[in-house]
Amino acid sequence: MCGIVGYIGYEQAAPFLIGGLEKLQYRGYDSAGVCTNDGEKLIVKKEQGKLKELKAMTDDGNNVKGTVGIGHTRWATHGRPSKENAHPHLSRSGKFAVVHNGIIENYMPLKQQLLKNGITFSSQTDTEVVVQLLEFYYDGSFTDTVIKVVSMLKGSYALGIMCMDAPDEIIAVRKGSPLIIGIGEKENYIASDVPAILDKTRNIYRLDNDEIAIIRRDSISVIDREKNNIEKSVEVIEWDIDAAKKGGYEHFMMKEIMEQPKAVHDTVFPRIRNGRVVLDEIKLTPEQIRDFQKINIIACGSAYHVGVVAKYIFEKMLRKPVEVDVASEFKYREPIIDEKTLTIVISQSGETADTKEAMEEAQKLGSHAIAIVNVVGSTIASEADSVIYTLAGPEIAVATTKAYSAQLAVIYLMAVYFGDILGKISEKDYKRYVSEFESLPEKISSILEMREDIKNIAEKYYECKDIFFIGRNIDYALSLEGSLKLKEISYIHSEAYAAGELKHGTISLIEDGTLVIALATYEKLYEKVISNVKEVQTRGASVLAIGCEGRNELHEITENIIFIPKTCDIMLPSLAVVPMQLLAYYVASFKGCDIDNPRNLAKSVTVE
Ligand code: F6R
Repeated sequence: MCGIVGYIGYEQAAPFLIGGLEKLQYRGYDSAGVCTNDGEKLIVKKEQGKLKELKAMTDDGNNVKGTVGIGHTRWATHGRPSKENAHPHLSRSGKFAVVHNGIIENYMPLKQQLLKNGITFSSQTDTEVVVQLLEFYYDGSFTDTVIKVVSMLKGSYALGIMCMDAPDEIIAVRKGSPLIIGIGEKENYIASDVPAILDKTRNIYRLDNDEIAIIRRDSISVIDREKNNIEKSVEVIEWDIDAAKKGGYEHFMMKEIMEQPKAVHDTVFPRIRNGRVVLDEIKLTPEQIRDFQKINIIACGSAYHVGVVAKYIFEKMLRKPVEVDVASEFKYREPIIDEKTLTIVISQSGETADTKEAMEEAQKLGSHAIAIVNVVGSTIASEADSVIYTLAGPEIAVATTKAYSAQLAVIYLMAVYFGDILGKISEKDYKRYVSEFESLPEKISSILEMREDIKNIAEKYYECKDIFFIGRNIDYALSLEGSLKLKEISYIHSEAYAAGELKHGTISLIEDGTLVIALATYEKLYEKVISNVKEVQTRGASVLAIGCEGRNELHEITENIIFIPKTCDIMLPSLAVVPMQLLAYYVASFKGCDIDNPRNLAKSVTVE
């Protein structure tokens, strides 16, 4: 969701800015632009649509002069996608330029005030208010004016700002939305995320909320709103630039699907020591863990689906009540939680606004928040009481796959860890879980080997108009993810239903040729799911069954079957999700969809 880059140095800025924006495309965008200082004025080049428009207009940035600049990919919130609404925005006289990620919640009253003072606007965005305020309140000091204006803003923002009177500075400010500063040799950078600058430097500062960075060619100073200096520590990015490249795959999504054995391995193995699950990131004593009366899980989208799987697993293994909420609903439902409730938030990006705010609400009510996060140093990771990092590496495709799998792995680890502390797991079962953890990456790999078979099934069904996913218990939780994966990248209408619920209304939609994907991996309820399969087949549905090896009788029910290896109940989702991800990928591929950047979606959803 909106990408920011900035450059100050001795090289031409625009080619770097455009290259950086290309690496942020995964965030989702509908327009793009750059602004540089050419020595006489701030020049802006921007265009609606994909980056290729901006590249063509600027000859890949080569025909835009200047060694200082900012760039932006916009994901529309206020004002439709258009050239006028694209960033950077200039102030009336062209003295200031701003790029922004986030939402200025009080932009309407601020805009009214400026309008009353005769300031006219050329876009419908909330961002333009910021740049016009900067010019309106300008007192000759770039820094002071920025401090004055940001203290008037409510909402979330990462801002990159240039001022004609301070041609050798970029100011970066952050509240709520992510922003990093890349530290170079005689040149420095800003960016929304690491991939944008990784081919230039591995040394970064992460700006924290309300910090203001004044960035010059050979210095970076970070101050607070009272102009006190803030000592920042340098973070060295360990992962390689190749991790953020496609590595020979046509799409990031396929690369990331294939990386799942490693993501699960890297997340699980460092946490199993001498045959015991060790989660020393959780800052709670065994007594505190035993004291919790309830678990509260909050997340969005696929991360929420991990939460639904977790509810089934935790309730079964820990015998504690678990509530799982979509984060955007949690905050406003006046939840009944307190210090006896353990909160678990799940987020790949660690920047999802809904999840962050819901976590804050839970913390305000006294609950300890454990965050399961992939992006190190992200906002949710910094604000949680305990953080368990999924070690999936950078995830670029908008549709999550390897982060989802790594999140599931953390849920299993927590279930075993808590189950042991609560005395709910026998030693025999404990050993079995640990040994299943060890074989999980290999079992996932064996499913990836079946991708040609799954591709053939996708070819048969990619023209379907409606696809239903059904299952019971953890298979139901998993069907939610299967359905989301398919619809978000292939645009085929799809719904996930608890298999037993279908007959209470939705079965009326089943007709000749409707594809129903039946998850029948959970042995305890296998027979019941098969009865539901018969119900839909009687009404004309074609069925694709996903079941465990050994269930050969499935051959009598349908010709479309994907067998997954056997494992313990709780780890089945890690295996059954893989064919559904591959199916969604191949269906979208046959349909010619933009797999890594599906329409209307953003990787990191930093608005409420
Ligand atoms: C779907 C997908 C989204 C995210 C959701 C939460 O493929 O990726 O549904 O799961 O937007 O994002 P995070 O995990 O970054 O909080």
